[in-house]
Amino acid sequence: MMKKLNPSLYVVFFAFAYFSSFAYAERLVMITGANRGLGLLLSEQFAQGGDKVIAVHRHNETPASLNSLKTKYPGKIIMEKLDLTDLNEVIKLGEQYRHKKTPIDILINNAGIYSPREPQNNTFQNLIQNLPQLEESMHTNAEAPMLLSSSLLPNITQGTEKMIIFLGSAGSRFSVDDNKRNRMGLTYVMSKSALHKAIDQAATDLKNPQKCLSQATCKDEQQVTMVGIDPGWVDTDMGKGSKNSQPETGTAEQATKKIYQLITSGTLNHTMSGQLINTSGQKLDW
Ligand SMILES: NC(=O)c1ccc[n+]([C@@H]2O[C@H](COP(=O)([O-])OP(=O)(O)OC[C@H]3O[C@@H](n4cnc5c(N)ncnc54)[C@H](OP(=O)(O)O)[C@@H]3O)[C@@H](O)[C@H]2O)c1
Repeated sequence: MMKKLNPSLYVVFFAFAYFSSFAYAERLVMITGANRGLGLLLSEQFAQGGDKVIAVHRHNETPASLNSLKTKYPGKIIMEKLDLTDLNEVIKLGEQYRHKKTPIDILINNAGIYSPREPQNNTFQNLIQNLPQLEESMHTNAEAPMLLSSSLLPNITQGTEKMIIFLGSAGSRFSVDDNKRNRMGLTYVMSKSALHKAIDQAATDLKNPQKCLSQATCKDEQQVTMVGIDPGWVDTDMGKGSKNSQPETGTAEQATKKIYQLITSGTLNHTMSGQLINTSGQKLDW
């Protein structure tokens, strides 16, 4: 005969079931340029916060930085290889994820390039000599992030957060002063300005019910939040790359914490879609 259970055990059981229904739901976050700089720090922040990260890098062998992260956060890091200068590869990765129908909660297009790094070598006067760097910059900073985002739209619309984030650059706006303008390189400014305008246009497309991929996903598409975040001038390889200048905003760790807070605290919301914002969520004018 079965023994009757102590009623207090029922209370404990139901309390456990009740509270575990509010347990943290792991999100899936794809981050490009995840092997160093802001991308690596962001990957760690999300993994530490309990989320799963698809860490995208371009190397044949997994970078040591990502192997360490994988060991530190077991089960939290998935790797994908992608060189953003190869646009066919970008589309192929998108197709793979579309085929698998994996919901992606947040896509962070972080990878970027600043080349040539010295502003005095990256001018209008030198543009012809810099053609390979111009192409690399346009592919990496503008075309590939937009293509990847577009091809992953069905995965994003199935995600809980429906966020597409790009790392933008406040220096690549019309409204910067001459001091800042003189510190910028033309190939970088061209590519980031193209990115900023594309974010504005893509967010407008997403809000328009007449442009939906399909009727079935239309409501979800309209809920996608797409923004550019300017991290400020921070001390990553990119930020400290110039001999003539010093990062003025802060450390990469500080910027990463602010970006993470912005994305996960509810500050970043759909009303900001299409904008370029700073790490506090304030809109930056063109
Ligand atoms: N640091 C700043 O002061 C600053 C200011 C404004 C905006 N941003 C933006 O913030 C983002 C992150 O910058 P960061 O400072 O972290 O730069 P970073 O330290 O130079 O790191 C750049 C990352 O992008 C990856 N990457 C570059 N080209 C790639 C390609 N063709 N395919 C795949 N991955 C590629 C790099 O991979 P590899 O290791 O393989 O090269 C690296 O992981 C960039 O979009 C940048 O423009 C930075």
